[in-house]
Order: sequence, then C-alpha cells, then structure tokens
Amino acid sequence: MAAAANAATPIALQETVSVDASPLTILYGSQTGNAKGIAEEMASKAKARGLDVKLANMADYKPNQLKNEKFLTIVISTYGEGEPPEQAEKLYNFLSSKKAPKLDGVQVAVIGLGDSSYEFFCKTASDFEERLSALGATVITERALLDVDYDEAAAAWVDGAVDLFEPELKALNGAASPAVNGLAGFSGAPQVAESIYNKKNPFTAEVGEVQKITGRDSLKDVRHVEISLEGSGLQYQSGDSLGVYFLNDSLVVDEVLALLKIDADEAVRIGDDSKSVRDALIEDFELTQSYPGFVEKYAAATGNTELAEIASDKAGLRDYLSDRQIYDVIRQNPGELTAQALIESLRKQQPRLYSIASSQKEVEEEVHLTIAVVEYDTHENNHLGGCSGFLGRRVEDGDKVRVYVEHNDSFRLPENPEAPVIMIGPGTGIAPFRSFLQDREADGVEGNSWLFFGNPHFTQDFLYQVELQSYLKSGVLSKLSVAFSRDQAQKIYVQDRIVENGAELFEWLEKGAHLYICGDGNHMAKDVHQALLSVVETHGGRSAEEAEAYVEALRDDKRYQKDVY
Ligand code: 2AM
Repeated sequence: MAAAANAATPIALQETVSVDASPLTILYGSQTGNAKGIAEEMASKAKARGLDVKLANMADYKPNQLKNEKFLTIVISTYGEGEPPEQAEKLYNFLSSKKAPKLDGVQVAVIGLGDSSYEFFCKTASDFEERLSALGATVITERALLDVDYDEAAAAWVDGAVDLFEPELKALNGAASPAVNGLAGFSGAPQVAESIYNKKNPFTAEVGEVQKITGRDSLKDVRHVEISLEGSGLQYQSGDSLGVYFLNDSLVVDEVLALLKIDADEAVRIGDDSKSVRDALIEDFELTQSYPGFVEKYAAATGNTELAEIASDKAGLRDYLSDRQIYDVIRQNPGELTAQALIESLRKQQPRLYSIASSQKEVEEEVHLTIAVVEYDTHENNHLGGCSGFLGRRVEDGDKVRVYVEHNDSFRLPENPEAPVIMIGPGTGIAPFRSFLQDREADGVEGNSWLFFGNPHFTQDFLYQVELQSYLKSGVLSKLSVAFSRDQAQKIYVQDRIVENGAELFEWLEKGAHLYICGDGNHMAKDVHQALLSVVETHGGRSAEEAEAYVEALRDDKRYQKDVY
C-alpha cells in the first residue's frame, strides 16, 4: 500500500511540472469551422500520444504570448480575395506590425485551407508562414495548402506533423509528460450537448415550408425555408450556422448522362460505397460550383486536348470558369469516358453554410434559413445555385436534406442581457438577427436593440417586415433603421444610416453596446467598418488612429462581431 502511494507521488509532481512546460500550441483561424475541425483533430491526436496540447481560437489568443511558444501549429483558412478570416485578423496584423517579437527557437508548422477556384488560393497560410519565419521561427515541415476536399490530405499532414513534434516535445518537457492543459479557447464553447450528427455524419431532415419573401417585382428571389430537426437531438444557439448537403438537379444530371452516353443505372464506387452513377451525381458530387481541378481531370479523362490547353493556363482557366458551372463544361465538351472516370473527375459536394434565422427557444425542433436563390443565364442555359436552387426552387413536399449545425462562438449575443445590441444586416444578412430577436423575446430581455436593414426596394424587399414591426411594437426591438437603396435617385446604404445616426450610435457604444455585422463581406462589411470608424472620429473626438484603436478594443472585448460571406 505504502509503496503504491509513494509510486504515485512522482507522477503527481510531474503533472505540476508540466504546467510550465512548453505545450504544442495549436492556433486556428476559421471562417466556416473547417480549420477549427482540423485543429481539434490534431489536438486530440497529439493528446492521445501523451503530448501537452493547448488549442485556441486565434481570436482568443493574446499575440504577445507568441514569444513564449516553442511548438506552434497554425491552422488557417483563406477567404474572399486572399484575406484572413475574421478570427485571425488580429494575430495576422500583429505579425507584420512593429510589435511583433523575435521568434527564434519557435518551431512552427502551417496548414492552410482554401478554394482553388480563387486566385489567392491559401494566401493567408503562406503569409503566416512567411511572417513567422521572417521573425525567426523554424518551419519544421512543408506547409500544406489544401483545397475544399481536404479531409484525407489534412489527416495525413496532421499525423506527419505530430510525428515531428512528438520527439521534440518529449525531449524538452521530459518523457511521458501527461497532458494537463485544458483545451484553451473553448471558454465560450457551446453549453449544449453534442448531437451525434455533424459534418461527417449529417442528419437527414425533412424540408417543411418554403416561402418566397421578396415581392413579385423584386430583382431578388429570397426564400424563407423551414427544416425539421425532429428526432435529431441537434441543438443550436443564435449565431450558429446550418451546414446543408443538397440534391443536384436530376433533370440536368439526366441530360449530362445522356450526352455522355452513360447508363444512369451503372454502378460506381465511392470509397467503400457503391450506388448508381445517377444517384451519385445527384447526391454526392459538385456539379454547379466550378473549380480548376475538374477541367484538368475531365480533359485528361476524355482526351480533350483543347480543354487541356485551356486548363494549362491558370488565369485563362479562371476566366473560362467565371461564367460556367461544372454542368456547362461537360455540356460543351461531351466526350467518351466511363461512369467511374466521370465521378473521379468530380469533387465531393461541399455543404453550404447558412446563418440560422431562428431561435430554438422559439421554434424548438425546427431551424429556419433565409436564402437568396442564385440564378443567372449564360451559355444558353438557365443556371441555379446548387443549394439555393434546391432549397428555393426544387424542393417538393416531404423532400429530405442532410444537415448539421456549425457552431459559431464568434457571433454571440452578449452574456449580459442588459447590454445594448446593434445589428447591421442588409439583405440576407438579416438572418441571424431574426434569430437574435426571437431569442431575446423568448428570454424577455429588456436591453436596447437596434437593427439596420437594407435592400433595394421597400415594397419588394423588406424581408420579415411584419415580424420586425411587431418586435418594434412590443419593444423587443427598440430601433429600426432601414436603407432602401433604389427607392430614390441616390443610393442609400446601411452605412449611410449609421453615419446619419452617428451621435446616437456612438452613445450606444459608450454604454457598452455590442455591434454585429452580417452579410456581404466583400463590400458591405468593409464599408460599414469605415462608417463605424468615421462615427468614432466624429462623435468620439478621436483621431483616425485612435478610432482604429477604439474599434480594435471593441473587437478584443467581443463587442464587434462579424458573420460575413
Ligand atoms: P444595391 O443592390 O441597390 O446597390 C442588400 O443587397 C442591399 O445591400 C441592397 O440594397 C444593395 O444595394 C446594398 N448594397 C450593395 N452594395 C453595398 C455596400 N457596399 N454597402 C452596403 N450596402 C450595399
């Protein structure tokens, strides 16, 4: 007995010691949750080998900690025009600022996620690596720059990186130091129980009501879509997104198969699965959103030299694909290939993420989405977006759709229910704010709330007008500022309303308001950001530099959050 008690002592001691030891720090900057998923996978693999791991969202990580790191992994996605995700912005800027410290002695490994159909593919990952290495860090393994179908490559890279870190960590920290660090960065983690359903194992849900919520004469077709989560155990919070796997258009699939003279019933293999090529094309592969890799593979599989020529010039290929879906490439280049070769030239369908437009406190086992149907005519064909076309136009009564919840802890209502909230959500950016308002109504929250909404025309495009007006009446919404851009000669946008209301908006901020932006990230969110800076300058009497610092501090306090796309 005594011996056993003694034997236990050194282990307990070692545990205390390893708190100060250098962990493997894994930092992620995620736009849609993919980078976070890889970071979590790496953390659990490293922990399983007895390594001390610290996992953190870059948004929650103090950049001046970097100099204390010894073993660092960066998991980072790139979005838009080669930009870092919102969560990564602070760290990204810090690394190229004068404040960035020397990082000699830091060992680093970088894995990037991106979309090869964009020009600046994985740029943020390359930037991170370059900057860390310019500061003196040692890159211990070749960075991985992965496309949207990254699963296998990411798992292999993670295994390789953990292999490299393991002996180094053990040499520095002493062998077998147990993992004692908690999973940092999960402070705001969901309080909800995890469902068995997730991105890899989506829930097959029934689509309920689909309602067009723009007017007959609108330039846009926006649909309110209700999906049942009954029986799934799936839970979401306001601010979360729904990942949706959709069905491709069977009419177009049949057209393509006929053109390629492939028998619809022919069986194809997908991993360990086997199904008809028709079902595979409808359920599992990307046929709408085009990307360069397909053209290359399809040209090779069909022996189409002309297409191969196009594929060989990067810029030309991007241009070629700018107004073509995968369907168009096939339609315009029918060739001879087997059913198996066809599906092997395609990439697996990526789920689409939509900001959830309902609160479970209100709708219980339902989830609501606000979806703009993507539609355009080119190459003598009408084109619909893959998922928006399915949910907005093709769904029939009782149709099923595979879904999962993507939690987003970077877009959350204030913990303090009395803190005022300012919500800026033009277009479909209204979605999470409908969820916020439902949530606040259910909780009987008394705090002030202010919504900025914009769209082209008042009569056609005032999404959820009746609901918003009733929230105003009941006091759930204290203030509503609208910008109908095309109802007058001069365009008016939400940022114009922000500037007009600058004095009051600044007052709200001074009273501790949390400010949220949802919607278009390429233009709107940037313009709103500028408007915000100008409000702080004008009404806060700040210089341009001080205004930047003021807004930066809001972000650090989690009082400035964006969900942009
Ligand atoms: P527009 O299409 O009339 O130019 C939702 O899409 C609303 O956002 C529309 O009213 C649209 O106006 C407007 N919008 C377009 N560009 C914008 C920008 N840079 N900032 C804010 N709103 C914008």
